[in-house]
Amino acid sequence: MKKFFLAAVVVAVAATASMANEDLVKKGRKIFMTKKLGNCLACHDVNGDKVDGPGSLGPKLQFLSAWPEQALYDKIYDPYTTNPLSAMPPFGKNGVLSDEEIKAVVAYLKTIN
Ligand code: HEC
Repeated sequence: MKKFFLAAVVVAVAATASMANEDLVKKGRKIFMTKKLGNCLACHDVNGDKVDGPGSLGPKLQFLSAWPEQALYDKIYDPYTTNPLSAMPPFGKNGVLSDEEIKAVVAYLKTIN
């Protein structure tokens, strides 16, 4: 009986966590698609997700699910740390996106295969 109870608790916690992640992905996608926020769609096409923008200055985003979260975070926070010639703006460093917003965008990017 105790084991059963524990298993039920574990399942409940896992379900809550995955729902929270789904919300975060939705929020991140919205930031990605919104001109006044991330405006990422201005420069990026996304593999497998319809992006309504020109999306040509930056590369088409694909295989990002394989990137470590920290690498994605750093790319958005300040792309110059990994690419000094990057034409992508430093969304974290210049204060356009907050820490929380960048984390949401990262959750969305992790869904891109
Ligand atoms: C002004 C155009 C521009 C905007 C806006 C822009 N990017 Fe970029 N992005 C680029 C360019 C150019 C590169 C390629 C150079 C580099 O890797 O830094 C790039 C590279 C990337 C990469 C690495 C892709 C790869 O396969 O190496 C990711 C991830 C990324 N951008 C995410 C984003 C996100 C998320 C946003 C919105 C918060 C965004 N970008 C907004 C221009 C842009």
